[in-house]
Amino acid sequence: MTRRRTAILISGRGSNMESLLKAAAAPGFPAEIVGVVSNRPEAAGIERARSLGIHAEAIDHRAFGGRAGFEAALDARLRDLGVELVCLAGFMRLLTAPFVEAWRDRAINIHPSLLPAFPGLDTHARALAEGVRFAGCTVHVLRPAMDSGPIIAQAAVPILPGDDEASLSARVLAAEHRLYPMALSLFASGAARVVGERVVFDAGVRFADGATFGPQPA
Ligand code: GRF
Repeated sequence: MTRRRTAILISGRGSNMESLLKAAAAPGFPAEIVGVVSNRPEAAGIERARSLGIHAEAIDHRAFGGRAGFEAALDARLRDLGVELVCLAGFMRLLTAPFVEAWRDRAINIHPSLLPAFPGLDTHARALAEGVRFAGCTVHVLRPAMDSGPIIAQAAVPILPGDDEASLSARVLAAEHRLYPMALSLFASGAARVVGERVVFDAGVRFADGATFGPQPA
């Protein structure tokens, strides 16, 4: 089995990054994490990655005149590292269409809501304010519009009486840590792939909850 060379982009603490690094440490995992890049030099995730033996570096977006310069440097670095797949994991910088299109169907993102509900920031506060009964998280293929793109996998968690932003985000984050490695595994192996702006699955793909997805019409 060839493991796809994968980079993780972060901006902060990197707990999703850590869940991916730990999953990818298993010999049969179809992605090999070849590097972590943060747009913020102070991100705690950089040290976290290094402590797990993974190359990690910062490309400080503030050092560039604009988005294009930063994205060109990021793109060049990813190519230097021989990256085939990119995982955004708490990467808090908008990426513009030229970068996203250059990595079309080779970059995925995790967002802490059941998309297309609550794209953008403050998802948990907005979910609580709306009174919805379920929150959750989504792993999707990157497209230029923020928090949009073909959905690979989602996990729902209940919103419970008395929840506040902290308790809800902790419950969603625990689901994120289970969901993202599963979604990356499916995507990197090719068992989940984009056809006509939807993600389709190989016959017999089994999700952690036991649901089975057969082939879907293209
Ligand atoms: C996660 O909730 C992620 O979905 C969101 O930002 C948070 C990052 O957390 N985009 P971490 O850096 O992975 O711990």
